[in-house]
Amino acid sequence: MKIRSCLSAILLFLFFSASSSEQNVRTERISGSAGDVLEDNPVGKLKVFVYELPSKYNKKLLQKDPRCLTHMFAAEIFMHRFLLSSPVRTRNPDEADWFYTPIYPTCDLTPTGLPLPFKSPRMMRSAIQLISSNWPYWNRTEGADHFFVVPHDFGACFHYQEEKAIERGILPLLQRATLVQTFGQRNHVCLDEGSITIPPFAPPQKMQAHFIPPDIPRSIFVYFRGLFYDVNNDPEGGYYARGARAAVWENFKNNPLFDISTDHPTTYYEDMQRAIFCLCPLGWAPWSPRLVEAVVFGCIPVIIADDIVLPFADAIPWEEIGVFVAEKDVPELDTILTSIPTEVILRKQRLLANPSMKRAMLFPQPAQPGDAFHQILNGLARKLPHDKSIYLKAGEKELNWTAGPVGDLKPW
Ligand SMILES: *[C@@H]1O[C@H](CO)[C@@H](O)[C@H](O)[C@H]1NC(C)=O
Ligand SMILES: *[C@@H]1O[C@H](CO)[C@@H](O)[C@H](O)[C@H]1NC(C)=O
Repeated sequence: MKIRSCLSAILLFLFFSASSSEQNVRTERISGSAGDVLEDNPVGKLKVFVYELPSKYNKKLLQKDPRCLTHMFAAEIFMHRFLLSSPVRTRNPDEADWFYTPIYPTCDLTPTGLPLPFKSPRMMRSAIQLISSNWPYWNRTEGADHFFVVPHDFGACFHYQEEKAIERGILPLLQRATLVQTFGQRNHVCLDEGSITIPPFAPPQKMQAHFIPPDIPRSIFVYFRGLFYDVNNDPEGGYYARGARAAVWENFKNNPLFDISTDHPTTYYEDMQRAIFCLCPLGWAPWSPRLVEAVVFGCIPVIIADDIVLPFADAIPWEEIGVFVAEKDVPELDTILTSIPTEVILRKQRLLANPSMKRAMLFPQPAQPGDAFHQILNGLARKLPHDKSIYLKAGEKELNWTAGPVGDLKPW
């Protein structure tokens, strides 16, 4: 067994060294729906009105803790900045297709930098109260033509523990709105059918500073850095990553094809560019920044997260660029990956090398055509025109302002 996997590692290494220059120079684009949608230009297809809110809902929070600009939920801030100067912005709310409320619900961090979403529901209620009493647009649809950026682990369920998040459900006042969120899992109470799933924020400049020449061979077969167990939050095991990360470690810690560890080396980004497959297992939530990193660094993402809904899944051909492994099949990971034909691997690498794929994963400053900001707008534009049924009759109410945990009803 050992000898066989060593041998295949050597063969693969030789193969990818020999073909690396060709593999990295050539890129491929999927024509037809996916590739074309990815390059759509949203300008002219929608108009967005940005509400003006007191700075306590956004800028003040950021001033208090500038770390909010670099953590993986920073899209809530960058989307605001992007919209302020975007050509899709309209200052006339009567001609708007979509209304955006600039609020940073995730910018409340512990001393160690972990976001705590416990005040988010009250903050959201307060902001919605404000816009619904100062403008006529909220009451017209009770938010059905409004979108909110809620990038936390379980989106607008506002809790980092899945069980609690499920118990809470989507904040009642947001149940008609379109949610732009990182969380995505099929048939989950925290993902509404109409939501737009986005990539987590990963710092573009920092990543670009670590690019290595594209002709460096990919000599690592499988790469992963991160936790296998979360002893602090899941002392008995089994909840964290539903055991999938533990299974990776227990089955492959001594397998020479697997370069896996909890150490986070300074060469992390470079290593991903030297790897053929990058594991993207679920953690507490189905997604992690590895998904973005793998695409940007051309490492084939191996997605281990049953029922995950991937970012911009209607524009990015995830099935073609990635490999999907069921959580229960983790013990077979070595066989699954070594039996993928070489031409299939090379095609995935060529698709990943397509710059439009990488652009769609990032929130750069300044924005660029085709980046994640534009993909969000494309997603919103594709939901237009709004169905007439979203407009409520005079006096008609759908939402319940007093539903939800009592703690959420306290003023913010
Ligand atoms: C919207 O409805 C709420 C609650 O019914 C009400 O208090 C508010 O004044 C209304 N807003 C406007 C602008 O009429
Ligand atoms: C709104 O929710 C509260 C709390 O769950 C409930 O007591 C009340 O009956 C609901 N109101 C309506 C109109 O459904």
